[in-house]
Amino acid sequence: METKKKSSFTGSLGFVLAAAGSAVGVGNIWRFPYLAAKDGGGLFIIIYVALVFTFGFTLLVTDVAIGRRTKTNALHAFAAMNRKWKFLGCLTFLVPIIIMTYYSVIGGWITKYLAVYLAGHGTDAAQEGYFTSFITSEVSPIVFMLLFLAVTAFIVYSGVEKGIERFAKVVMPGLLIMIVIIAIYSLTLQFKDGNGNIRTGLQGLSVYLIPNLDGMTVKRFLEILLDAMSQLFFSLSVSMGIMITYGSYVKKEVNLSQSLAQIEFFDTFVAFLAGLMIIPAVYVFFGAEGMASGPSLMFVSLPKVFEAMGWIGNVIGIVFFVMVLFAALTSCISIMETLVANFMDIFHGSRKKTSLIIGVASAVAAAIICMGYNVFYFELSLPNGQTAQLLDLMDYVSNSFLMPFISLLTCIFVGWIIKPKWICEEMESSGHPFRRKKLYIFMIRYVVPIMMAVLFLQSAGIFTMVQSLFV
Ligand code: PHE
Repeated sequence: METKKKSSFTGSLGFVLAAAGSAVGVGNIWRFPYLAAKDGGGLFIIIYVALVFTFGFTLLVTDVAIGRRTKTNALHAFAAMNRKWKFLGCLTFLVPIIIMTYYSVIGGWITKYLAVYLAGHGTDAAQEGYFTSFITSEVSPIVFMLLFLAVTAFIVYSGVEKGIERFAKVVMPGLLIMIVIIAIYSLTLQFKDGNGNIRTGLQGLSVYLIPNLDGMTVKRFLEILLDAMSQLFFSLSVSMGIMITYGSYVKKEVNLSQSLAQIEFFDTFVAFLAGLMIIPAVYVFFGAEGMASGPSLMFVSLPKVFEAMGWIGNVIGIVFFVMVLFAALTSCISIMETLVANFMDIFHGSRKKTSLIIGVASAVAAAIICMGYNVFYFELSLPNGQTAQLLDLMDYVSNSFLMPFISLLTCIFVGWIIKPKWICEEMESSGHPFRRKKLYIFMIRYVVPIMMAVLFLQSAGIFTMVQSLFV
């Protein structure tokens, strides 16, 4: 059939930037800095970095090698490796479907904030209740989501090389430059609060970097470990079929071992820079307690920080939201590309037609998620104790529930049934050595499955349940 005209990245740089584009997203910008501030600063960073190069590396290698060796997408890749494990392909494919429904909604919020700053109305965004009144309004969130989605769909429609690779090659270096500029600016800040205390960016830097071991217990340490692990997952875009799809576009001569190390490094470096940019800025104006988590960090706290900076805050706001928009676009593109590629496999349709259909279907789904803040508003208690609306529910099901479960099954499958040798052969097939090979084999067979099982039980609320039985 039409096997020979498979799309591909032109070379290793295109692949590295596109995959890093998928990995670098809102997770790096609004989750990593928050977790670092909450979980002991430098301590969290050290744990995170150690996990990226052992644990994240294992999952990334597995996904990309499966993709390149089978030359197909998650749905068919697992079946091609072993017919009995086809269900794992279906399960994996479910994750980008779920994430697609809400990621473009967040993309729409970012687009809206960029528009506000471009219009010079940054101070409006800093007002109390601005964010809530925006997301609960009926039309505006849908309009901005559609704008964001249209750009995403257009790039996927344009193809792997002419769309995704070309876009990533422009946007990723741009993102890096902008984040460095804001981080440097952030370190030079200074502010005198109502009590006459002066706080500086460099003090903020020490809050971020110096490990804080106050009140450390085994339980607390495990908590930090689990936080770092679930962050890692989401951040590297693993265990959701995305890296399998991108892996299937990598040419045989590319040195995978080296490219994957570059992706790990890129993603971690951007997360680190995001902390460097956000933590000192928030600290200077609002003290250590000013750090909020999730969307409210980006859409509520930071606009206040920008406002406190005076006129330059509007300029920084523009640069910041352009940068976040780049990060979100390249991530959303990778999700949509995975959907389009899988559906092209199922229905054998053309890329253009499939992109259009998926684009429209995603718009409908995302509009429903937008309505989760008005028409379909509810308050649901999740097993981890958080209160969720529709968007949080989708996020929880995909990230906290499905992803650890899929990783667990993938490790069992690759580590014990297919055997790690199958992956190692692919890693070495270009004639380059597979560095950290022994580490990989050990991790995939023993360490990762155990950790994943723990993470899964924790997210499902089973630990808390068992604990409450004994207390
Ligand atoms: N890795 C992205 C981030 O850190 C998020 C993402 C999740 C991207 C799923 C694609 C798919 O924000």
